[in-house]
Amino acid sequence: MAIERTFSIIKPDAVAKNHIGAIYNRFESAGLKIVAAKMVHLTKEQAEGFYAEHSERPFFGALVSFMTSGPIMVQVLEGENAVAANREIMGATNPAQAARGTLRADYADSIDENAVHGSDALASAEREIAYFFAADEICPRTR
Ligand code: PPS
Repeated sequence: MAIERTFSIIKPDAVAKNHIGAIYNRFESAGLKIVAAKMVHLTKEQAEGFYAEHSERPFFGALVSFMTSGPIMVQVLEGENAVAANREIMGATNPAQAARGTLRADYADSIDENAVHGSDALASAEREIAYFFAADEICPRTR
């Protein structure tokens, strides 16, 4: 099993509903360690940059508007197969298709406002972590 790092966002809808603690509990209960975290309120430019790969998709404007509508929590999660483990904890993009017990089944209302983001591959995890965190903001966990 490989120890990986992945990038996670608790989106404005879940922050507004006070679900930060419940979501952190899911990460930690699954054995993922939080090795960096902060609350940020994205500018339009920051959100557009983060989601640049989706800039041609019809929902892009609504996605940027949603992601700048309030504060978000960004965190780096570390653990065995962290990228895939976090995707499993999150559930499908569309909460209507998310498996029972996943974060999106429990905390998301729609595909447009779906509570959490998680990197989909190791390469995107590295890029997304670097988008939000300097190397010295990440704390290696030795125990
Ligand atoms: S999918 O299922 O292939 O469309 O989703 P994906 O390419 O993985 O990610 C798309 C991101 O845009 C967010 N978003 C939407 N996706 C699809 N349809 C609609 N209407 C939509 N609105 C917003 C979706 O949540 C993905 O964002 P992240 O932050 O990666 O979860």
